[in-house]
Amino acid sequence: MIRINENYLKLKASYLFSDIAKRVTAYTTAHPDKPIIRLGIGDVTEALPQVCIDALKSGADELANRATFKGYGPEQGYAFLREAIATHDYAARGCPISADEIFVSDGSKCDCGNIQEIFATEGLQLAIPDPVYPVYVDTNVMAGRTGANLDGRYEGITYLECTPANGYVPAIPGTSSDLIYLCFPNNPTGAVATREQLTAWVAYAKAHKAIILFDSAYEAYIRNPAIPHSIYEIPGAAEVAIEFRSFSKTAGFTGTRCAYTVVPKALQAFDKAGNAHSVHALWNRRHTTKFNGVSYPVQKAAAAIFTETGKAQVKAMTDFYLGNAALIRDAITKLGFSCVGGDNAPYIWINTGTDSWQFFDKLLNEAQVVCTPGAGFGKCGEGHVRISAFNSRANVETALARIAAALRK
Ligand code: MLT
Repeated sequence: MIRINENYLKLKASYLFSDIAKRVTAYTTAHPDKPIIRLGIGDVTEALPQVCIDALKSGADELANRATFKGYGPEQGYAFLREAIATHDYAARGCPISADEIFVSDGSKCDCGNIQEIFATEGLQLAIPDPVYPVYVDTNVMAGRTGANLDGRYEGITYLECTPANGYVPAIPGTSSDLIYLCFPNNPTGAVATREQLTAWVAYAKAHKAIILFDSAYEAYIRNPAIPHSIYEIPGAAEVAIEFRSFSKTAGFTGTRCAYTVVPKALQAFDKAGNAHSVHALWNRRHTTKFNGVSYPVQKAAAAIFTETGKAQVKAMTDFYLGNAALIRDAITKLGFSCVGGDNAPYIWINTGTDSWQFFDKLLNEAQVVCTPGAGFGKCGEGHVRISAFNSRANVETALARIAAALRK
Protein backbone atom coordinates (compact mmCIF):
# COMPACT_ATOMS: atom_id res chain seq x y z
CA MET A 1 0.00 0.00 0.00
CA ILE A 2 1.44 3.34 -1.04
CA ARG A 3 1.67 5.70 1.91
CA ILE A 4 1.95 9.44 2.13
CA ASN A 5 4.41 11.69 3.90
CA GLU A 6 2.15 12.37 6.89
CA ASN A 7 4.02 15.56 7.70
CA TYR A 8 1.96 17.12 4.91
CA LEU A 9 -1.15 16.54 7.01
CA LYS A 10 0.21 19.00 9.57
CA LEU A 11 0.15 21.82 7.00
CA LYS A 12 -2.66 24.28 6.49
CA ALA A 13 -4.78 23.00 3.59
CA SER A 14 -3.34 25.46 1.07
CA TYR A 15 -0.53 27.94 0.61
CA LEU A 16 -1.28 31.55 1.71
CA PHE A 17 -1.22 33.08 -1.77
CA SER A 18 -3.38 30.26 -3.16
CA ASP A 19 -5.95 30.96 -0.41
CA ILE A 20 -5.99 34.62 -1.35
CA ALA A 21 -6.22 33.85 -5.07
CA LYS A 22 -9.29 31.65 -4.39
CA ARG A 23 -11.03 34.43 -2.45
CA VAL A 24 -10.24 36.94 -5.18
CA THR A 25 -11.50 34.61 -7.92
CA ALA A 26 -14.73 34.04 -5.98
CA TYR A 27 -15.18 37.81 -5.70
CA THR A 28 -14.46 38.56 -9.35
CA THR A 29 -16.76 35.74 -10.49
CA ALA A 30 -19.58 37.17 -8.39
CA HIS A 31 -18.83 40.80 -9.38
CA PRO A 32 -17.52 40.77 -12.96
CA ASP A 33 -18.33 44.49 -13.27
CA LYS A 34 -16.01 45.53 -10.41
CA PRO A 35 -12.38 45.56 -11.51
CA ILE A 36 -9.98 44.75 -8.72
CA ILE A 37 -6.47 46.09 -8.11
CA ARG A 38 -3.91 43.61 -6.82
CA LEU A 39 -1.55 44.85 -4.13
CA GLY A 40 -1.38 41.42 -2.52
CA ILE A 41 1.28 39.00 -3.73
CA GLY A 42 4.53 40.78 -4.51
CA ASP A 43 4.43 40.25 -8.24
CA VAL A 44 6.07 42.81 -10.50
CA THR A 45 4.03 44.55 -13.17
CA GLU A 46 6.45 46.66 -15.22
CA ALA A 47 8.25 45.52 -18.37
CA LEU A 48 11.70 43.94 -18.06
CA PRO A 49 14.63 46.37 -18.33
CA GLN A 50 15.53 46.90 -22.00
CA VAL A 51 19.03 45.45 -21.46
CA CYS A 52 17.39 42.19 -20.36
CA ILE A 53 15.06 42.09 -23.36
CA ASP A 54 18.02 42.67 -25.71
CA ALA A 55 20.05 39.95 -23.99
CA LEU A 56 17.14 37.48 -24.06
CA LYS A 57 16.74 38.06 -27.79
CA SER A 58 20.42 37.71 -28.55
CA GLY A 59 20.56 34.56 -26.38
CA ALA A 60 17.65 33.12 -28.36
CA ASP A 61 19.45 34.02 -31.62
CA GLU A 62 22.50 32.07 -30.45
CA LEU A 63 20.29 29.04 -29.88
CA ALA A 64 18.97 29.43 -33.43
CA ASN A 65 22.41 28.84 -34.89
CA ARG A 66 24.16 25.44 -34.76
CA ALA A 67 27.57 27.07 -34.27
CA THR A 68 26.47 28.92 -31.11
CA PHE A 69 23.75 26.53 -29.94
CA LYS A 70 23.88 25.38 -26.31
CA GLY A 71 22.48 22.26 -24.68
CA TYR A 72 22.87 21.59 -20.97
CA GLY A 73 24.81 24.33 -19.25
CA PRO A 74 26.73 23.99 -15.99
CA GLU A 75 24.23 23.13 -13.23
CA GLN A 76 25.69 25.89 -11.04
CA GLY A 77 25.23 28.53 -13.73
CA TYR A 78 27.37 29.94 -16.54
CA ALA A 79 30.70 31.42 -15.46
CA PHE A 80 29.83 34.79 -17.07
CA LEU A 81 26.87 35.21 -14.70
CA ARG A 82 28.54 33.83 -11.57
CA GLU A 83 31.55 36.09 -12.16
CA ALA A 84 29.36 39.16 -12.73
CA ILE A 85 27.50 38.45 -9.47
CA ALA A 86 30.74 37.94 -7.53
CA THR A 87 32.17 41.20 -8.88
CA HIS A 88 29.17 43.49 -8.69
CA ASP A 89 27.08 42.14 -5.81
CA TYR A 90 29.96 41.05 -3.53
CA ALA A 91 33.48 42.32 -4.33
CA ALA A 92 32.04 45.83 -4.85
CA ARG A 93 30.77 45.72 -1.25
CA GLY A 94 33.92 44.20 0.19
CA CYS A 95 32.35 40.75 0.66
CA PRO A 96 34.73 37.77 0.40
CA ILE A 97 32.60 35.73 -2.01
CA SER A 98 34.01 34.05 -5.11
CA ALA A 99 32.19 32.98 -8.28
CA ASP A 100 32.40 29.29 -7.43
CA GLU A 101 30.49 29.88 -4.20
CA ILE A 102 27.48 31.11 -6.22
CA PHE A 103 24.80 28.68 -7.40
CA VAL A 104 22.43 30.06 -10.03
CA SER A 105 18.87 28.71 -9.89
CA ASP A 106 15.34 29.36 -11.08
CA GLY A 107 14.15 31.00 -7.88
CA SER A 108 14.80 31.84 -4.25
CA LYS A 109 11.50 30.29 -3.21
CA CYS A 110 12.77 26.92 -4.47
CA ASP A 111 16.24 27.43 -2.98
CA CYS A 112 14.91 28.47 0.45
CA GLY A 113 12.71 25.39 0.37
CA ASN A 114 15.35 23.01 -0.95
CA ILE A 115 18.30 24.03 1.20
CA GLN A 116 16.93 22.41 4.34
CA GLU A 117 17.24 18.97 2.66
CA ILE A 118 20.97 18.93 3.38
CA PHE A 119 20.48 19.34 7.14
CA ALA A 120 19.36 16.79 9.74
CA THR A 121 15.65 16.21 10.09
CA GLU A 122 15.84 15.16 13.71
CA GLY A 123 17.02 17.13 16.69
CA LEU A 124 17.60 20.40 14.84
CA GLN A 125 16.63 23.58 16.71
CA LEU A 126 14.87 25.86 14.27
CA ALA A 127 14.60 29.61 14.79
CA ILE A 128 12.11 31.26 12.44
CA PRO A 129 10.70 34.80 12.55
CA ASP A 130 7.00 35.49 13.07
CA PRO A 131 5.57 36.97 10.84
CA VAL A 132 7.46 35.21 8.07
CA TYR A 133 7.50 34.23 4.41
CA PRO A 134 5.51 30.95 4.75
CA VAL A 135 7.98 28.87 2.72
CA TYR A 136 10.52 28.70 5.56
CA VAL A 137 8.02 27.16 7.96
CA ASP A 138 6.09 24.95 5.55
CA THR A 139 9.16 23.27 4.05
CA ASN A 140 10.41 22.35 7.52
CA VAL A 141 6.98 20.95 8.38
CA MET A 142 7.08 18.88 5.17
CA ALA A 143 10.51 17.55 6.16
CA GLY A 144 9.23 16.44 9.56
CA ARG A 145 11.22 18.87 11.70
CA THR A 146 8.16 20.06 13.60
CA GLY A 147 5.35 18.63 15.65
CA ALA A 148 1.70 19.50 15.32
CA ASN A 149 0.31 22.95 14.71
CA LEU A 150 -1.15 24.03 18.04
CA ASP A 151 -3.08 27.27 18.01
CA GLY A 152 -1.27 28.61 14.93
CA ARG A 153 2.25 27.55 15.91
CA TYR A 154 4.22 24.39 15.23
CA GLU A 155 5.87 22.50 18.05
CA GLY A 156 9.62 22.40 17.60
CA ILE A 157 10.12 25.91 16.24
CA THR A 158 11.51 28.82 18.21
CA TYR A 159 9.49 31.73 16.89
CA LEU A 160 11.40 35.01 16.66
CA GLU A 161 8.67 37.53 17.33
CA CYS A 162 8.62 40.70 15.25
CA THR A 163 6.31 43.22 16.84
CA PRO A 164 5.75 46.98 17.02
CA ALA A 165 7.74 46.91 20.29
CA ASN A 166 10.96 45.70 18.62
CA GLY A 167 10.42 47.59 15.36
CA TYR A 168 9.70 44.21 13.70
CA VAL A 169 13.36 43.16 14.01
CA PRO A 170 13.50 40.08 16.24
CA ALA A 171 15.67 39.80 19.33
CA ILE A 172 18.26 37.05 19.54
CA PRO A 173 16.75 34.11 21.45
CA GLY A 174 17.97 33.22 24.91
CA THR A 175 18.08 29.57 23.86
CA SER A 176 20.31 27.66 21.44
CA SER A 177 19.47 27.36 17.70
CA ASP A 178 20.98 25.34 14.84
CA LEU A 179 19.20 26.70 11.76
CA ILE A 180 18.16 30.35 11.78
CA TYR A 181 16.06 32.05 9.09
CA LEU A 182 16.45 35.80 8.60
CA CYS A 183 15.09 37.98 5.81
CA PHE A 184 16.14 41.63 5.32
CA PRO A 185 14.71 43.83 3.89
CA ASN A 186 11.93 41.81 5.39
CA ASN A 187 9.04 40.12 3.73
CA PRO A 188 6.34 40.80 4.93
CA THR A 189 7.17 43.80 7.14
CA GLY A 190 9.62 45.75 4.99
CA ALA A 191 11.81 46.28 8.10
CA VAL A 192 15.58 46.37 7.67
CA ALA A 193 18.38 45.21 9.99
CA THR A 194 21.30 47.43 10.94
CA ARG A 195 24.94 46.38 10.73
CA GLU A 196 24.98 46.06 14.55
CA GLN A 197 21.93 43.79 14.57
CA LEU A 198 23.38 41.53 11.86
CA THR A 199 26.74 41.47 13.65
CA ALA A 200 24.98 40.19 16.77
CA TRP A 201 23.26 37.43 14.74
CA VAL A 202 26.56 36.33 13.21
CA ALA A 203 28.15 36.18 16.69
CA TYR A 204 25.17 34.16 17.98
CA ALA A 205 25.42 31.71 15.06
CA LYS A 206 29.16 31.27 15.68
CA ALA A 207 28.62 30.67 19.38
CA HIS A 208 26.08 27.93 18.65
CA LYS A 209 27.78 26.41 15.56
CA ALA A 210 24.56 27.34 13.79
CA ILE A 211 23.82 28.38 10.22
CA ILE A 212 21.89 31.50 9.23
CA LEU A 213 19.77 31.26 6.08
CA PHE A 214 19.75 34.89 4.99
CA ASP A 215 17.11 35.83 2.43
CA SER A 216 18.01 39.13 0.81
CA ALA A 217 15.70 38.98 -2.18
CA TYR A 218 14.73 42.63 -1.66
CA GLU A 219 18.20 44.14 -1.21
CA ALA A 220 17.89 46.22 -4.41
CA TYR A 221 15.31 48.35 -2.57
CA ILE A 222 17.70 49.49 0.16
CA ARG A 223 18.26 53.25 -0.10
CA ASN A 224 19.71 53.94 3.35
CA PRO A 225 23.49 53.70 2.77
CA ALA A 226 24.10 52.48 6.34
CA ILE A 227 22.05 49.30 5.85
CA PRO A 228 23.99 46.20 4.69
CA HIS A 229 22.79 44.62 1.44
CA SER A 230 24.43 41.29 2.21
CA ILE A 231 25.09 39.31 5.38
CA TYR A 232 28.65 38.90 4.07
CA GLU A 233 29.27 42.59 4.77
CA ILE A 234 29.56 41.40 8.37
CA PRO A 235 33.06 40.02 9.13
CA GLY A 236 32.97 36.25 9.72
CA ALA A 237 29.53 35.76 8.15
CA ALA A 238 30.96 33.49 5.42
CA GLU A 239 31.60 30.92 8.16
CA VAL A 240 27.98 30.87 9.33
CA ALA A 241 25.61 32.04 6.60
CA ILE A 242 24.01 31.06 3.32
CA GLU A 243 22.49 33.92 1.32
CA PHE A 244 19.58 33.85 -1.12
CA ARG A 245 19.26 36.49 -3.83
CA SER A 246 16.83 36.81 -6.68
CA PHE A 247 16.45 38.72 -9.94
CA SER A 248 12.65 38.61 -9.42
CA LYS A 249 12.14 41.81 -7.50
CA THR A 250 15.48 43.36 -8.50
CA ALA A 251 14.85 43.26 -12.24
CA GLY A 252 11.27 42.07 -12.75
CA PHE A 253 12.09 38.36 -13.27
CA THR A 254 9.13 36.82 -11.37
CA GLY A 255 7.98 35.23 -14.63
CA THR A 256 11.40 34.98 -16.28
CA ARG A 257 12.91 33.05 -13.33
CA CYS A 258 16.48 33.50 -12.18
CA ALA A 259 18.02 33.64 -8.71
CA TYR A 260 21.11 32.52 -6.89
CA THR A 261 22.26 31.10 -3.60
CA VAL A 262 25.65 31.74 -2.04
CA VAL A 263 27.17 28.84 -0.12
CA PRO A 264 30.66 29.86 1.06
CA LYS A 265 33.37 27.21 1.12
CA ALA A 266 34.20 28.15 4.71
CA LEU A 267 30.78 27.00 5.88
CA GLN A 268 30.70 23.75 7.87
CA ALA A 269 28.01 21.55 9.36
CA PHE A 270 28.44 18.48 11.51
CA ASP A 271 27.50 14.80 11.52
CA LYS A 272 26.21 12.96 14.60
CA ALA A 273 29.75 12.20 15.72
CA GLY A 274 30.66 15.90 15.53
CA ASN A 275 32.81 15.63 12.39
CA ALA A 276 32.75 18.76 10.22
CA HIS A 277 31.57 18.64 6.59
CA SER A 278 31.64 21.21 3.82
CA VAL A 279 28.14 22.60 3.27
CA HIS A 280 29.28 23.83 -0.16
CA ALA A 281 30.12 20.24 -1.16
CA LEU A 282 26.76 18.95 0.08
CA TRP A 283 24.81 21.66 -1.72
CA ASN A 284 26.81 21.12 -4.89
CA ARG A 285 25.98 17.41 -4.69
CA ARG A 286 22.30 18.15 -4.23
CA HIS A 287 22.19 20.86 -6.90
CA THR A 288 23.96 18.77 -9.56
CA THR A 289 21.73 15.77 -8.83
CA LYS A 290 18.40 17.56 -8.85
CA PHE A 291 18.86 20.60 -11.09
CA ASN A 292 19.97 21.14 -14.67
CA GLY A 293 20.50 24.86 -14.71
CA VAL A 294 18.64 27.97 -15.82
CA SER A 295 18.13 28.51 -19.55
CA TYR A 296 20.96 30.27 -21.38
CA PRO A 297 18.98 33.31 -22.63
CA VAL A 298 17.64 33.91 -19.12
CA GLN A 299 21.15 33.83 -17.64
CA LYS A 300 22.28 36.25 -20.34
CA ALA A 301 19.39 38.54 -19.44
CA ALA A 302 20.31 38.33 -15.74
CA ALA A 303 23.97 39.16 -16.45
CA ALA A 304 22.87 42.22 -18.43
CA ILE A 305 21.76 44.00 -15.27
CA PHE A 306 25.40 44.27 -14.18
CA THR A 307 26.36 46.49 -17.13
CA GLU A 308 26.37 50.26 -16.50
CA THR A 309 23.17 50.64 -18.57
CA GLY A 310 21.63 47.66 -16.79
CA LYS A 311 22.39 49.11 -13.37
CA ALA A 312 20.73 52.41 -14.35
CA GLN A 313 17.64 50.61 -15.70
CA VAL A 314 17.31 48.46 -12.56
CA LYS A 315 17.67 51.54 -10.37
CA ALA A 316 14.93 53.30 -12.37
CA MET A 317 12.64 50.29 -11.96
CA THR A 318 13.17 49.90 -8.22
CA ASP A 319 12.88 53.69 -7.77
CA PHE A 320 9.55 53.52 -9.55
CA TYR A 321 8.18 50.87 -7.16
CA LEU A 322 9.62 52.77 -4.18
CA GLY A 323 7.72 55.84 -5.48
CA ASN A 324 4.54 53.76 -5.24
CA ALA A 325 5.56 52.65 -1.75
CA ALA A 326 6.01 56.26 -0.63
CA LEU A 327 2.50 57.13 -1.87
CA ILE A 328 1.05 54.13 -0.02
CA ARG A 329 2.85 54.96 3.22
CA ASP A 330 1.74 58.56 3.05
CA ALA A 331 -1.91 57.74 2.32
CA ILE A 332 -2.09 55.04 4.99
CA THR A 333 -0.48 57.30 7.59
CA LYS A 334 -2.98 60.07 6.74
CA LEU A 335 -5.75 57.56 7.38
CA GLY A 336 -4.43 57.28 10.94
CA PHE A 337 -2.60 53.93 10.80
CA SER A 338 0.97 53.34 11.81
CA CYS A 339 3.09 51.41 9.33
CA VAL A 340 6.65 50.32 8.60
CA GLY A 341 8.47 49.38 5.40
CA GLY A 342 8.18 51.04 2.04
CA ASP A 343 11.37 53.13 2.40
CA ASN A 344 13.95 50.37 1.88
CA ALA A 345 11.52 47.67 0.75
CA PRO A 346 8.56 47.30 -1.62
CA TYR A 347 6.18 46.25 1.17
CA ILE A 348 4.25 48.40 3.63
CA TRP A 349 3.23 46.67 6.84
CA ILE A 350 0.18 48.32 8.36
CA ASN A 351 -0.81 48.01 11.98
CA THR A 352 -4.62 47.95 11.67
CA GLY A 353 -5.19 46.60 15.16
CA THR A 354 -8.09 44.53 13.81
CA ASP A 355 -8.63 40.99 12.52
CA SER A 356 -6.47 40.82 9.42
CA TRP A 357 -8.71 38.56 7.32
CA GLN A 358 -11.68 40.85 8.11
CA PHE A 359 -9.63 43.86 7.02
CA PHE A 360 -8.63 41.96 3.86
CA ASP A 361 -12.32 41.21 3.15
CA LYS A 362 -13.28 44.84 3.76
CA LEU A 363 -10.70 46.11 1.27
CA LEU A 364 -11.70 43.45 -1.26
CA ASN A 365 -15.46 43.98 -0.93
CA GLU A 366 -15.59 47.74 -0.45
CA ALA A 367 -12.49 48.99 -2.30
CA GLN A 368 -11.85 46.11 -4.71
CA VAL A 369 -8.23 46.15 -3.56
CA VAL A 370 -6.30 42.98 -2.72
CA CYS A 371 -3.83 43.14 0.17
CA THR A 372 -2.29 40.30 2.17
CA PRO A 373 -3.67 39.57 5.64
CA GLY A 374 -0.92 39.58 8.24
CA ALA A 375 -2.23 36.46 9.98
CA GLY A 376 -1.23 34.50 6.88
CA PHE A 377 2.41 35.18 7.78
CA GLY A 378 2.12 33.99 11.39
CA LYS A 379 0.56 34.70 14.74
CA CYS A 380 2.40 38.01 15.20
CA GLY A 381 1.04 39.10 11.82
CA GLU A 382 -2.47 39.27 13.26
CA GLY A 383 -3.68 42.87 13.51
CA HIS A 384 -1.67 43.80 10.40
CA VAL A 385 -1.97 43.71 6.62
CA ARG A 386 0.72 43.98 3.97
CA ILE A 387 0.34 46.20 0.92
CA SER A 388 2.69 45.64 -1.96
CA ALA A 389 4.06 48.49 -4.06
CA PHE A 390 4.17 46.38 -7.21
CA ASN A 391 1.69 47.88 -9.63
CA SER A 392 1.34 50.76 -12.06
CA ARG A 393 1.26 54.31 -10.65
CA ALA A 394 -2.30 54.78 -11.91
CA ASN A 395 -3.48 51.59 -10.19
CA VAL A 396 -1.78 52.51 -6.92
CA GLU A 397 -3.39 55.97 -6.97
CA THR A 398 -6.81 54.52 -7.73
CA ALA A 399 -6.40 51.85 -5.05
CA LEU A 400 -5.44 54.44 -2.43
CA ALA A 401 -8.45 56.63 -3.29
CA ARG A 402 -10.74 53.61 -3.02
CA ILE A 403 -9.16 52.48 0.28
CA ALA A 404 -9.59 55.97 1.74
CA ALA A 405 -13.25 56.05 0.69
CA ALA A 406 -13.91 52.56 2.12
CA LEU A 407 -12.19 53.23 5.43
CA ARG A 408 -13.82 56.62 5.96
CA LYS A 409 -17.31 55.16 5.58
C1 MLT B 1 5.28 37.62 -1.68
O1 MLT B 1 4.31 38.24 -2.09
O2 MLT B 1 5.48 37.42 -0.48
C2 MLT B 1 6.26 37.12 -2.67
O3 MLT B 1 5.94 37.54 -3.95
C3 MLT B 1 6.26 35.68 -2.66
C4 MLT B 1 7.45 35.14 -3.38
O4 MLT B 1 8.39 35.86 -3.69
O5 MLT B 1 7.41 33.94 -3.59
